[in-house]
Amino acid sequence: MVAGSVSQKLASRLAKELKSELIIPETKRFPDGEIYIRLPGEVKQKHVLVVQSTCAPQNDNLMELLFMLDLTKNLGARKVTAVVPYLAYARQDKRFKPGEAVSIKTVSKLIARAGADELITVDVHESKSKRDFSIPLRNLTAMPLLGICLKKMKLKNPVVLGGDQGSENRAQIVASKMGADADYLEKRRLTPTKVVMTPKSLDVRGRDVVIVDDIISTGGTVVEATKILKRQGARKVYAACTHAVLAGGAEKNLAAAGVVKIIATDTIEKKVSLVSVAPLIAHSLG
Ligand code: R5P
Repeated sequence: MVAGSVSQKLASRLAKELKSELIIPETKRFPDGEIYIRLPGEVKQKHVLVVQSTCAPQNDNLMELLFMLDLTKNLGARKVTAVVPYLAYARQDKRFKPGEAVSIKTVSKLIARAGADELITVDVHESKSKRDFSIPLRNLTAMPLLGICLKKMKLKNPVVLGGDQGSENRAQIVASKMGADADYLEKRRLTPTKVVMTPKSLDVRGRDVVIVDDIISTGGTVVEATKILKRQGARKVYAACTHAVLAGGAEKNLAAAGVVKIIATDTIEKKVSLVSVAPLIAHSLG
């Protein structure tokens, strides 16, 4: 297994799960910013996993991934599996406006052409993304693991809410592991400029609430939801997600809105990565 620079903890947990050798590439920057990479290990005739998230700085981390894939293939690996737990550009999966780049398609071509025989990722933004890849794509979900972690936290009469109807299924998976109720936040337009968000059918008064999403990026979605839930009498609000992108001042804004804790995975290695997706990935390879 080859551990990319931003996924070293995950790669080492995965190597332990799979009882496989861990190769840490030697990387450095040339004075002009270019990336140097060397693989100090034997990959010839082996099935090699290259583990690298494409979190910020996305383009640098993507480039490092491409170098590692090409190098591994070039050094004679029999099969190369790209493990990209957070797949950058997955949100730009169609031309929303005429003339826009469909960035995920470009990323998929690069990963395949660089030498990956297959790709494993976690909670990719759109499950339809499969059609953008010319190599087999395994999209795993971390929702059961988040549910198991939340169950241990012994929340009070908890309700799990998807941030929108699209997240209802995620909320249901998490809730089923916790033995909790699930619902989603419904957006209703009152006037052309005024939108209200409210749980579709459950009352949150006096209950602990977990808002579940695939990504927390700016935190805007969860901040808005939290403010509303607090007004509706929610006791404590938790935010659970697979990918803690946490751009800008997201953490500060979430805390100010009343989120007591963020529970995320190590697809992006952060302080809030309380859940590891290593067992999930290992199981999918097993
Ligand atoms: C949207 O479709 C996604 O599932 C997330 O809700 C969104 O990316 C979160 O973004 P932010 O944290 O910036 O509101």
